[in-house]
Amino acid sequence: MLSSKLPKIWYGGDYNPDQWPKEIWHEDMRLFRLAHIDVATLPVFSWSLLQPEEERYEFGWLDEILDLLAKNGIYVCLATSTAAHPAWMARRYPDVLRVDFHGRKRKYGVRHNSCPNSPTYRHYSAELAGRLAERYKDHPTLVAWHVSNEYGGYCYCDNCARAFRRWLQRRYGSLDEVNERWNTRFWGHTFYDWDEIVPPNILSEHLSEWDHTRTAFQGISLDYSRFQSDSLLECYLGEYRRIKEHTPDVPVTTNFMGTYKPLDYFKWAPYLDVVSWDNYPSNRSEPWQVAFRHDLMRGLKEGMPFMLMEQTPSQQNWQPQNALKRPGVLRLWSYQAVAHGADTVMYFQLRQSRGACEKFHAAVISHAGHENTRTFREVAELGRELKELGDTLIDSRIEARIAILFDWENWWALEYSSGPSIDLKYIPQVEAYYAACWKQNLAVDIVHPDMDLSRYDVVLAPALYMARDGFPEKIQQFVEAGGTFVTTFMSGIVDENDLVILGGYPGALRKLLGLWVEEIDALFPDDENQVIIDEVPEELQGLKGTYSARLICDVVHSEGAEVLGVFGRDFYAGMPALTRNRVGKGYAWYVATSPEPALIERLIAQIAAQHGIAPVAEAPAGVEVTRRVKGGRGYTFYLNHNETGVEIDLGEAPRRELLSGRTLSGRVHLEGRGVMIVADA
Ligand code: GLA
Ligand code: ZN
Repeated sequence: MLSSKLPKIWYGGDYNPDQWPKEIWHEDMRLFRLAHIDVATLPVFSWSLLQPEEERYEFGWLDEILDLLAKNGIYVCLATSTAAHPAWMARRYPDVLRVDFHGRKRKYGVRHNSCPNSPTYRHYSAELAGRLAERYKDHPTLVAWHVSNEYGGYCYCDNCARAFRRWLQRRYGSLDEVNERWNTRFWGHTFYDWDEIVPPNILSEHLSEWDHTRTAFQGISLDYSRFQSDSLLECYLGEYRRIKEHTPDVPVTTNFMGTYKPLDYFKWAPYLDVVSWDNYPSNRSEPWQVAFRHDLMRGLKEGMPFMLMEQTPSQQNWQPQNALKRPGVLRLWSYQAVAHGADTVMYFQLRQSRGACEKFHAAVISHAGHENTRTFREVAELGRELKELGDTLIDSRIEARIAILFDWENWWALEYSSGPSIDLKYIPQVEAYYAACWKQNLAVDIVHPDMDLSRYDVVLAPALYMARDGFPEKIQQFVEAGGTFVTTFMSGIVDENDLVILGGYPGALRKLLGLWVEEIDALFPDDENQVIIDEVPEELQGLKGTYSARLICDVVHSEGAEVLGVFGRDFYAGMPALTRNRVGKGYAWYVATSPEPALIERLIAQIAAQHGIAPVAEAPAGVEVTRRVKGGRGYTFYLNHNETGVEIDLGEAPRRELLSGRTLSGRVHLEGRGVMIVADA
């Protein structure tokens, strides 16, 4: 449980009272009570008010607001305010300012803008966190810590360059080793002195002003991504350690952003007491895209419940078109987060800003200033429901037997790679396999390749280009022991430095898959090939058919793998497109192209059936079903993403539905965008 002070799904969000006169604070309290809000996150962006001068700290206003919150029964997720440095700091200590990808030294402005290797930033951010922790360690409202905000972006300044060289020295020991790993004999890049190494950006190794993935040297760019992610993690840890000196038992987090590419969240997660994240889909996002991100965030700490730190009560301001959330969507998407493991439902923000770039971003309390708005009513109604749920769902877990592998370093490497196609992106490949599971309501965990896989029956690894040390052996054992492994084109090809594993693709996985790939063809966007599945063993009859194939087609030779599908066109027509290799008690599958969704869905259906993995429950299309389990009792979530109502069959036994309190059985109606949480009988 996050905090014994508040044993329920936390409800609240970012609160910026320092942007408002004090009279408003009292009105805020009244409205928070009406909306059943019990947690406020603050002060997220108040460094310049907390430390108006280098030698002077001002906590008086924060004391006052925290006391007022305490009086009103509202808890605090205390933020450290270090995501935007004060203007005076930038003027006095320019080392806090970043140098961007174009090599330009930034001036003071915006936020999330501090150089992660700035001695000034490191010192003063930790100092502020420490002072806040010391001052508020015993404050009755304190339930969690929110370090900085949405860490992100990279810096290319001289301090970063020096720190990068030290990072390389620690990682590789010698310059010879670096030259080897980066293959620097290519284009005569051999380094003879550490100081010859400079950050890879548009002034050095990068090839495109606008596409930051285009690099001449994958090795250096990949290491720079690792290094920048590590540098920001060091900033977080500087604050974390100071906080822990004073409040060892209060959970500390920083808010993540789902599939945010620049930071390796799997590497960060062990240092967070709880993962939290900010969910900002557009009205056009598919529900499975959102579900995937929730599962990814839950997977970072191997299934531990996470915090939904931010979502908008309605529209955003930073998308091209900022559509309103339609009636009922706020509730539906909030429960979707809970259905995937969230133990909090929180917003950005509680009161809408009057000026600057977020003034048109929705908030619980709008510019109108009162409770008579659609958004407020929806927020308040949800608050009431969450209050009534109490601690029923808190700490419950999701049980999955299918894992999808996800790896940030693989993402970087795959997309830094020049060729075979600029259309090849990691996320859509993973999403394709995730969506296939989602549509069948099969529970999935998202897992890092270094994590324990033995508790799964099925491991899916779309485009797992980079074979980490030890992974091929581990997955071999997994299959031998009876697991099913499915991987695709562009897998197992390179090592951790993007050096090709020689002897034929897919290098590290060749033996396990029982095949080799001689060539990799890239299709033009308007081209397609086919996967033809005709003669297959009895248990795979459901796969039969002809499917379109796009993006990439491998020219494959079987070395023992059973050929189940072949390409339909071009000079490799008749050659393997889908194979299965029996290894020990299990199977290793290879999908040599990017097929239409129907094939992936059928493939997963067949494999799940063979392992006796059933959907969480049967439901009509567009109804998402998940299950959280606590103390042996399951709670099944039905989320109707359709605008229209559907009929759900709950079976014979009467069961309690938590949101309505009714006891249900047999066929029940679930309205458009409706939600049910049904307890086991
Ligand atoms: C992010 C930030 C918030 C706010 C919202 C607006 O998630 O963390 O401070 O800017 O976006 O959507
Ligand atoms: Zn820097």
